Amino acid sequence: MDVSSYKPKGRIEHKHLLNLLDYSAADIYEILHLAGSLKTSFAKGKKHELLKGKTLAMIFGKSSTRTRVSFEMGMHQLGGHSLFLSSNDIQLGRGETIHDTACVLSRYGIDGIMIRTFKQSDVEDLAKYGSFSVINGLTDDFHPCQALADIFTLYETFGHLNGVKLSYFGDGNNMAHSLMLAGAKTGMNICICSPKGFQPNPEITEAAQKFGNVTVTESVEEAAEGADALYTDVFFSMGQAKDAVKEKALMPYQVNSDVLAMAKKDAVFMHCLPAHRGEEVTESVIDSTHSIIFQEAENRLHVQKAVMCLLMGKK
Ligand code: CP
Ligand code: NVA
Repeated sequence: MDVSSYKPKGRIEHKHLLNLLDYSAADIYEILHLAGSLKTSFAKGKKHELLKGKTLAMIFGKSSTRTRVSFEMGMHQLGGHSLFLSSNDIQLGRGETIHDTACVLSRYGIDGIMIRTFKQSDVEDLAKYGSFSVINGLTDDFHPCQALADIFTLYETFGHLNGVKLSYFGDGNNMAHSLMLAGAKTGMNICICSPKGFQPNPEITEAAQKFGNVTVTESVEEAAEGADALYTDVFFSMGQAKDAVKEKALMPYQVNSDVLAMAKKDAVFMHCLPAHRGEEVTESVIDSTHSIIFQEAENRLHVQKAVMCLLMGKK
């Protein structure tokens, strides 16, 4: 079944969004369909209060533009309230444990926590010890909200997801991991193109391969050929120090006009942003008519609103 023929039920049996490993294709299709209808209502200026009286706390241990603003505006548009908590300002940043933080925040009537941090285990522990829904807003291993917004953007672009070939070039990082999982589960053809030493975590690759069509290659030609979407991300993720060896290894994986020319004629270019022009992508590609980067960024809002409604709304 493809997302285009799926009949939504308006619910999913999940309390958290931690990494997509435990999400089925149907769960993901529910999110994409609700995101579509919320996006249409938003464009028409239609007001609704699906999360009236609900509060989302947002814990940030790393910087953010899109995630912070889209979650905050999303809660506002759904009639709820959000609370920005920088790790530097709360006791978590001074060594209070995730366990104690989760137990304390559970006493204040918080309905959901969106957390951006380093260790995936911290996100999982927050869900384990807290009474609220937990949404992963990026860890060193995963970025599920971005990957969901990306496949929603591809669905808008192509009208279906089955068989759509997305090739990711560069560092086998949190984005590569989440795109493999989201794409494999929804029938896409995901190709990760990275040099040895910077390929995705083999355990996550194997897990994704059990769900669908995922290949890892060092060959830029193999990845670009027949691609519907070319995707890349920064050489150095937040928390990583710049390193000349890694930069040298990743430069040949830059998405430039030569790579674009090898893909399908109407291929799109994608990037989670922020981008570094001249490093992982050239201006000639990211600022070309093939680029759908701002549509991806916008769709963070609609997709996360759908995620929050399905996790935190009335069951
Ligand atoms: N793509 C993304 O998550 O952007 P921010 O780091 O600005 O939130
Ligand atoms: N891989 C990047 C994604 C930023 C949205 C990082 O973790 O910094």
